Amino acid sequence: MNRELRKTVIAGNWKMNMLASEIKAFKDELMPLISGYSAWCEAAICTPFVLLPSALDVFKGTGVGVGAQNMSQHESGAYTGEVSATQLTDIGTQYVIIGHSERRQYYGETDESVNEKTLAALKTPMTAIVCVGETLEQREQGITNSLVTKQVETALKNVPGGEELGKIIIAYEPVWAIGTGKTATPEDAQEVCKVIRDVLAKLYCEKSAASITIQYGGSMNDKNAKELLAQPDIDGGLIGGASLKPDAFAVIINAANQ
Ligand code: PGA
Repeated sequence: MNRELRKTVIAGNWKMNMLASEIKAFKDELMPLISGYSAWCEAAICTPFVLLPSALDVFKGTGVGVGAQNMSQHESGAYTGEVSATQLTDIGTQYVIIGHSERRQYYGETDESVNEKTLAALKTPMTAIVCVGETLEQREQGITNSLVTKQVETALKNVPGGEELGKIIIAYEPVWAIGTGKTATPEDAQEVCKVIRDVLAKLYCEKSAASITIQYGGSMNDKNAKELLAQPDIDGGLIGGASLKPDAFAVIINAANQ
């Protein structure tokens, strides 16, 4: 983390978990545990579409933001089953995850669709959490850095510099670490996050690159968060499993506040 240069963001990704009736109990348990939580560290929960109205209502005024886990690249029209960026912002959604590896793996998302969605999200006030990361096979082939470089370059194609970049977070999520309990070592995670920052500097400039939040995701939990967040280029986390447990999620948010 480097608090002087950029914001720290801890985002929970609930994936296809939780029910509307469970959100208040989650919030009631979480909030007292993060009472020391301050403005420079943002915290958010990304829920399934159907839970967004309840989550927005429950977290209103708490300082904890609410995000979606996906969105359509299209503005409106005949796209059955899809949800647009405008529909998300219309109800007050503040974040949207784009290109999560589960969407790439199971629902055919590509670097190109991630780019289209990122451009569509930037037309709204939402912050886009753009996910990149390699599979185990790709890591073993030694192509992690080149692959992640291409993912970032393509995701940000035609994304202008300046203010727009303030609405982009890059989440580095090695696919082999997601939901497996296998976390990247802080050093390995730092290495790739630094590669990402160097790509951003090439695409924009050093100053812009230094201002962009880069999260790590993949089995980040209450035990390993502190060490990961201590790395200079890791500015937060995208947290799956551990974000379903208020106590574990609170430990991670508090680790980001130290
Ligand atoms: P995990 O998920 O923390 O359960 O590994 C992270 C993610 O998929 O964003």
